[in-house]
Amino acid sequence: MFSLPKNVTLIEVGPRDGLQNEKNSIPTEAKLSFIHTLQQAGIQEMEVTSFVSPKWVPQMADSTEIMQQIEKNGRQLVLTPNAKGIALAKDAGAKSMAVFVGVSDTFNQKNINRTTAESVASLRPLIDQLKMDNYFVRACISTAFHCPYEGFIAPEKTLELCRLFSDMGVNELSVADTDGMANPTASYSLFHSLKEQFPNLLITAHFHDTRKLGLTNIYAALQAGIDRFDTSAGGLGGCPFAPGATGNVATEDVLYLLETLHIETGLDQEAICRAVDIVAPYLSRPIETAMYQLYKRKENVS
Ligand code: HMG
Ligand code: MG
Repeated sequence: MFSLPKNVTLIEVGPRDGLQNEKNSIPTEAKLSFIHTLQQAGIQEMEVTSFVSPKWVPQMADSTEIMQQIEKNGRQLVLTPNAKGIALAKDAGAKSMAVFVGVSDTFNQKNINRTTAESVASLRPLIDQLKMDNYFVRACISTAFHCPYEGFIAPEKTLELCRLFSDMGVNELSVADTDGMANPTASYSLFHSLKEQFPNLLITAHFHDTRKLGLTNIYAALQAGIDRFDTSAGGLGGCPFAPGATGNVATEDVLYLLETLHIETGLDQEAICRAVDIVAPYLSRPIETAMYQLYKRKENVS
């Protein structure tokens, strides 16, 4: 019989993964208000923006303003692909950096214009420096289960890439099902191996809900002992370079699942839905998550 964790941390990725793929330009003020409302809902760790090329991801072009203007409470992560991103993020006051790399070479080329090996080689000295300067470093491992270009990924390849980043001394591995092709068996198996092989690292699971298996995959990862999940308010999200991938698993729906399992998160579900209300008018698609729809129905009745 397995035992589930008593407490779980949800790392909110809505302001970054959630918004990066949105076609409409969202005003910086709305993003700031989204972030602040998520903080008020109890979120302690959040990906707030990314310091990437504005030509590649125009929605994240206001990262300096975002970083400078948010209230500094909890851990605020920013995505940084290279030396320029790290330098800009440091200048804006970021203390926690998320580097990102794909297990699949093809995805990595499309996403950051380098092979996986080239990415690892160029990130190594940057991570060394960040660690020397006491920054928190998270490594986001994309296409950990499946690549939209190359197909299924052997778990050994994912574990091998995770080992390289563990050896570099990162604090956290966020292991991602980029295009939502994981299933509960694969989720349990990979996260069980990760827990076994990296007992001293924070291990976070990042599921996209393309095929509506996000919650099931989370339940399987909980059984493997995972107590950290990347989630996105409103189920927003998707990577512009992973065709067909839809949003992350929704924070409010994961919260409901955890509540039914008597797992504490310290988060206020209604406040998460209020945060979604702030960005909803700017989005190109309706919010269809179960708990947000129930919240709206309740609002319309009262
Ligand atoms: P490149 O074109 O190879 O870059 O792009 P470059 O070094 O040749 O530079 C070209 C131009 O970009 C130069 O400007 C640089 O200064 C500028 P120019 O001289 O032409 O005016 N530049 C930058 N500007 C701002 N910030 C920077 C930066 N770097 C160079 N950091 C690059 C390489 C990595 C920049 C580009 O490919 C890029 O920005 N990619 C970002 C892709 C991205 O953000 N993807 C989404 C996030 S990953 C994800 O969603 C997956 C995840 O959620 C997990 C999962 O689900 O799998 C994390
Ligand atoms: Mg993602």
